Amino acid sequence: MGLFAWGCLAIGLQLELGEGHDNGLGSTPQMGYNTWNDFECHGVSAENIRKVADKMVTLGLPALGYEYLIIDDCWAKKRGEDGVLVPDPDAFPQGMKPVADYVHESGLKFGIYTDRGTWTCAGRPGTWGYEVTDAQTFASWDVDYVKTDSCNGPDSLDDRPSSAAIAQYKLFRDALNATGRPIFLALSGWHNWYSPFGKGLANSWRIGYDVRNWRSAWNYAIRVNAFLHDYAGPGGWNDPDMLVGSSDTAVRMTPEQSRTQFSLWSVMTAPLLLGSMLSMTDHDLETYTNREVIAVDQDPLGIQGQIVWENCPLRNRTNIRQKQYYDEIPACQQVWAKPIQDGFAVVLLNLENNSARVNFSISDVCWSSTELQPCDFFEEAAVRDLWSKEDLGRMRFINVTLAADGGSRMFKVVPKAPRKQEVKPGPRASKKRRPSLYPQRVGKGPPLQTDAVHFLQREL
Ligand code: GLA
Repeated sequence: MGLFAWGCLAIGLQLELGEGHDNGLGSTPQMGYNTWNDFECHGVSAENIRKVADKMVTLGLPALGYEYLIIDDCWAKKRGEDGVLVPDPDAFPQGMKPVADYVHESGLKFGIYTDRGTWTCAGRPGTWGYEVTDAQTFASWDVDYVKTDSCNGPDSLDDRPSSAAIAQYKLFRDALNATGRPIFLALSGWHNWYSPFGKGLANSWRIGYDVRNWRSAWNYAIRVNAFLHDYAGPGGWNDPDMLVGSSDTAVRMTPEQSRTQFSLWSVMTAPLLLGSMLSMTDHDLETYTNREVIAVDQDPLGIQGQIVWENCPLRNRTNIRQKQYYDEIPACQQVWAKPIQDGFAVVLLNLENNSARVNFSISDVCWSSTELQPCDFFEEAAVRDLWSKEDLGRMRFINVTLAADGGSRMFKVVPKAPRKQEVKPGPRASKKRRPSLYPQRVGKGPPLQTDAVHFLQREL
C-alpha cells in the first residue's frame, strides 16, 4: 500500500473515531508497575499483589510518581453464567475488589488486563462481545487502568492499519467512557500503525511486540519509536513496552542496558512501567529512582524526543515492520534529544559491540525543537550529567566515550549565548526540512543516508 492509500485509510478511520478519547487522564506518560515480566502466569495472586504493593510503598515509589499497580494476563479463570469475568479462585479467593481496595489503601491506583479478542494471549477469556459487561465489571471493582491486548481478534498480526481492530478498541473505549469512571486506557496492539489513531482511542498504545532484552528493545522500541514523535502528547503516548530490569530473571538486560533503557524511555516520553519488583537489584533501584531523569520523562510540555544526530544505516517503514523480527543491531551511534521546559535532555547511545567515541555539537539539540519549545542555534550551553549529577559548566561539544552494546550518557542542556549572527530558526518553527545529509557522520559506519523526519512519508 502506498502513502496515498495509507493516508486515505487514516483519514477514513479518523473520522469514524468521532469525538475521540478524552477522560482527562495521561497529561504525562503513566508510571507504575506491571506483573507480566515478573510473574507471567505463575504467581499472579492476591498474596503477591499485596507483596508488590508493600514493596512499592517501602521503596518510596508512589511519591516518585509510580502510581499504578497493574495486574497483567492470567488473573481471569472463566466467564460466569451472567457473562461476568471470574477471577481464578485459587489465586484470588476473595475476588478482585478486596485486592483493589488493598492497592488503594497503599496509596496506589489499581490496573487490570484484558484483550480485544475472544481469548487473551495466555488463553484466558477475552473481551470480544463483552465490552460493556467488562467495562462495567472493572468500574465496579474500582479499577483505574485497563491494558487491553490484541491476541485472538481480527488482524492481530496485520502490519497495515486494521479497521476491524480499531472498531473493536473503539467499542471498548466507549464502554469505559460510559461507566463514568475515569479509567486510563492502555492499548496493546503491538504495531506502529496505531500511532496516528492513538489519541482518538486511548491514553497510550503499544508500538511493537514485547521488549524482553536489549535486542528486542532495539527492534520493537527504539528503531520504531524514532519516527512516531508527532503522534504523542498530553493525553496519549506511544508505548514502547515495559522497562526491563537487570536482576537474575528470564526477562533481563545488563545493568548498563537497563539504565540506558530508562534514559532513552524518558527522552522518548514513554510510559515508565517497571517490570521487576520483588527481585529488584540496588542498581536498578538507583536507576528507577533518579528524580532528574523521571522529571525529563514527566516534563509538562509532553514533547516526545527524537534523533538529532546519528551515523546508523537508513531505516524506512519497510524494515520496521513488526514481522521482521530481530534485525541485527547496527554498529553505530545515535544522539536523541527532547525539548523540556527549561532546555533539552539528551542521550548519547552506542549500539555497536565496541566502545565508541562521539563528539556531539550541543546546539544540534535544536533539531528536536517544536513550536512549544523553539530553539535558535546557540553558541554554548550549561551541561549537567544526569547520572553522575555533576554540573559540567558551559560547553559547545559533548565529547565522550560510550561503553559497548547499549552504553549511553545522559545530559541536561540549557542553551546560553544565542548566536548574534546567522541565527537559524528551529526546524519546525521555520517549517524548513531538516537538510537531508544532516547530521554529520563521524567515525566508522556506512554512508549516512538517514533522515528520520521524513520516515513516515516514504512509500512502502
Ligand atoms: C502480550 C503482550 C504482553 C503481555 C502478554 C500477556 O504478549 O504484548 O505485554 O500482556 O501478552 O499474555
